Amino acid sequence: MKGVILAGGTGSRLHPLTRITNKHLLPIYDRPMINYAIESLVGAGVDEIMLVTGGTHAGEFLRLLGNGNEFGVERLLYAYQDKAGGIAEALGLAEKFVAGDRCVVLLADNIFERSIRPCVEAFRRQRHGARVVLSKESDPSHLRHLGVVQFDGDRRIKHIVEKPADPPSEFAVTGVYFYDETVWRVLPELKPSGRGELEITDVNNWYLGQGLMEYDVLEGFWGDAGESIQAYYSVNDFVRSRAASQEQ
Ligand code: DAU
Repeated sequence: MKGVILAGGTGSRLHPLTRITNKHLLPIYDRPMINYAIESLVGAGVDEIMLVTGGTHAGEFLRLLGNGNEFGVERLLYAYQDKAGGIAEALGLAEKFVAGDRCVVLLADNIFERSIRPCVEAFRRQRHGARVVLSKESDPSHLRHLGVVQFDGDRRIKHIVEKPADPPSEFAVTGVYFYDETVWRVLPELKPSGRGELEITDVNNWYLGQGLMEYDVLEGFWGDAGESIQAYYSVNDFVRSRAASQEQ
């Protein structure tokens, strides 16, 4: 399975910090945000990775990560997204890299307490389709900034609503997605959303419509450090206090 890390976008919710650097180069406790994404994939046994980024600081990723060997990456490739056209557009740049294989896609502003290895293994066992990873979030003000699932009576996902004014459940879709080779046929069919982006939620709803979507529910802390400046600092606080308790 190939890994695709998405680290483009404008990071506008963290302006002015992100006027002078890429969001994923900002620190989370003692290292840049992007390091956590690399560690999540390598820790889950995925060591062939493409990093998609954009903007004026793309070169810094190369300076930081190089060929990735130091981080346990076997093969690290880079792609450049010309403009922030959305998560699904960024994923499209990895098509030739993934070719003939399946992929796990990780949004580089997502920080996980526990390993995502069980999800990777579950997708290895899944015959086809896609897989999303959910996290229970009881605060509706938080859910309104995320993709949120709507379940049917059998606890299967019926639909995912992006940034719902009225969240249909307490389960947010995290930024880890698994796709089979069908995804490359879905991406060209997408139309830009109201915010002018190709949405990953539209890809996921396509798989749901075909009955080809499975899910896991995460245990432990999960944070989207790009959601707001408050979220950025809560993720920092969590990582820092965990490191402090491990040092004791
Ligand atoms: O973090 C989980 C959430 O991520 C999900 O719950 C939502 O369903 C999903 O749409 C996404 O929402 P965000 O509003 O947080 O997405 P954002 O625009 O912040 O983009 C997330 C990452 O994707 C970002 O850290 C970098 C990458 N990205 C984003 C865009 C718009 C790109 O590489 N290129 C892009 O053009």
